[in-house]
Amino acid sequence: MDTNGSSNPVTDNTGDRPVSVRTRGLTKAYDGKLALDDLDLEIKKGDIFGYIGPNGAGKTTTIRILAALLWPTRGTAEIEGVDVVRQPRRIKELVGYMPDNFGVYENMTLWEYLDFFGAAYRIPRSKRKRVIEDVLALTDLGPKRDDAVSAFSRGMKQRACLAKTLLHDPQVLILDEPASGLDPRARIELRELLKELQRMGKTILVSSHILTELSTICNTVGIIEKGKLIASGEVRRILESLRAHREFSLELLDPAEASRARAWIAGQAGVKSAEPFGGTVKIVLDATEPEIAALLEGLVAEKIRFTGFREDLVDLETAFMTLTKGELA
Ligand SMILES: Nc1ncnc2c1ncn2[C@@H]1O[C@H](COP(=O)(O)OP(=O)(O)OP(=O)(O)O)[C@@H](O)[C@H]1O
Ligand SMILES: [Mg+2]
Repeated sequence: MDTNGSSNPVTDNTGDRPVSVRTRGLTKAYDGKLALDDLDLEIKKGDIFGYIGPNGAGKTTTIRILAALLWPTRGTAEIEGVDVVRQPRRIKELVGYMPDNFGVYENMTLWEYLDFFGAAYRIPRSKRKRVIEDVLALTDLGPKRDDAVSAFSRGMKQRACLAKTLLHDPQVLILDEPASGLDPRARIELRELLKELQRMGKTILVSSHILTELSTICNTVGIIEKGKLIASGEVRRILESLRAHREFSLELLDPAEASRARAWIAGQAGVKSAEPFGGTVKIVLDATEPEIAALLEGLVAEKIRFTGFREDLVDLETAFMTLTKGELA
């Protein structure tokens, strides 16, 4: 599956952007047991890449290798052309890594926490104040600057941790399960924040095992299982490739025409089923694009007047279940 595509719901993906993160044959064994098996990942500059897989799939292992915190057993990993094994220091400048379990720093206000890490990143004292103001503004944490981090809610801690990750203005953000444990509102805020960072030109890898969490955040995804990448590419393309079963809704102008519409549609090429629900006909297709176009032309010719025809997209959860059942082999 390629990552080049024209239509994308999330970003304008021209497909010819340079590669930011690349692994080749990346393999990691713990005590002889493979956690990553010959992984080839490619994330383009400016992508929000969703790294999806069940527990134990190898997400954290990959992420820690990309953050130069863990050595691969075999294979290579590069970020912006920098090899993680040969230049780990440079990687730490390029990458903002947010672990899945962020430490809590007792008795520190948010400002002290950020100042502490700002110093650790060797941001000069003269610049630090401005940098901290910037990340507080970006993460909407300004009003909390004098509050104790230990008293933050989980969502706020996560946000504080993200603010910390942004201090050294990394080009690539690698976030291990940033949305886990967040309520729907916090998740939407996270999504907006990630999109803002994307607009700033950052490349973002975000992992999750909760797939629906990522479908609205990411423009590309990779699905990993038992250390192997089983699919990767544009969210939209992955979903498309999974469908021999595409569902559409046809909104009729006049609900009284539903049964005539249903009878006509059911006889057309590529139509698996057509069922009326009030003024809407639900159509299941296993059709090519020209067949779909012909269906619409036919509706017009038959004077079946409609006000809308849209695809009901399968979500990533369904896509993932289909993939891991091996139905796409
Ligand atoms: N330090 C370690 N020592 C031995 N085995 C490990 C170690 N870390 C991870 N593993 C094993 O490697 C495999 C991949 O683990 P990893 O943490 O990368 O998965 P994950 O996709 O991040 O899972 P989760 O969704 O639970 O976070 C698992 O089988 C795990 O048991
Ligand atoms: Mg993990």
